[in-house]
Amino acid sequence: MPTTDGTATDRERVAERLLAASHAHAFDPITDIDWDAPLVDGAFFLPAHRVSLYGTPIWERMSERQRIDLSRHEVASMASVGIWFEVVLMQLLIRHVYDRPLTSRHVQYAFMEIAEECRHSTMFGTLIDKLDCPEYGPGPYAHMAARVMKTLGSGVQAFAMALIAEEVLDTMQREMMADESLQPITRQTARIHVVEEARHVRYARDEVARGAPHMSRTERAITRLALARAAHIIATRLVHPGVYTAVGLDADRACRAARANPHRLDALGHWSRRLIAFYDEHGLLGGPGQRLWRASGLMGRQI
Ligand SMILES: [Fe+2]
Ligand SMILES: [Fe+2]
Repeated sequence: MPTTDGTATDRERVAERLLAASHAHAFDPITDIDWDAPLVDGAFFLPAHRVSLYGTPIWERMSERQRIDLSRHEVASMASVGIWFEVVLMQLLIRHVYDRPLTSRHVQYAFMEIAEECRHSTMFGTLIDKLDCPEYGPGPYAHMAARVMKTLGSGVQAFAMALIAEEVLDTMQREMMADESLQPITRQTARIHVVEEARHVRYARDEVARGAPHMSRTERAITRLALARAAHIIATRLVHPGVYTAVGLDADRACRAARANPHRLDALGHWSRRLIAFYDEHGLLGGPGQRLWRASGLMGRQI
């Protein structure tokens, strides 16, 4: 990368710092987590007030065992969506580096991030097995929509999109790692992910902040709409309808109750607060996509 270019130098400096942090705080989830430890009887896998049905009439009728089981399936559902998203991100990063100087620190950090995402995806897969849950995944529509994105997305749009899942999961997992009443296994996986994702968030935010001021009006309008569409897809796929069937509930009724649940909207709004403030700061909100943002629940009760 040419060092006479101020932007390139700044980019290299950021990557240098992130590489140093990666070397100082790296994990191997396969050996750093005690996968053989038994699950704790009676402990939730997700804070109870963050379970999608919390506080609804259905929740009130559920037994404690059923509530805990639902939290287990919801964690597994989110972990499977996490793997899907990381696969998309890894492909975006590989495409990002293809036309860049491959020995630059910026590209080396992209390789580091891909290596970390590979380990995260292995960690989430092992977690799903340990929780004895199926691979729920994001569903066929999201699977196809992301195929287009991961093949064509680039620049500000790709990095801003990466932030949707990274920022939302990060805020959610910070709560999980701090909550001592939860299952140790979900706290441990959350902690590893939070530490490593903080660097990924910095890398992506930096690319967005650098590129966003130079977008044309058309590019900005397309990006706003694409981000709104992606935010809607991701937020509405975190909890697969199959989790309700797995705990003996009617999936359609439970999905409707979760969508209308003010506690659920509070949770989504809380998890996405930082993301939305960042998008707003860089002119990535607004336009026809606002309807999708509101429907996604990520704006909380602001509907
Ligand atoms: Fe990750
Ligand atoms: Fe990441």
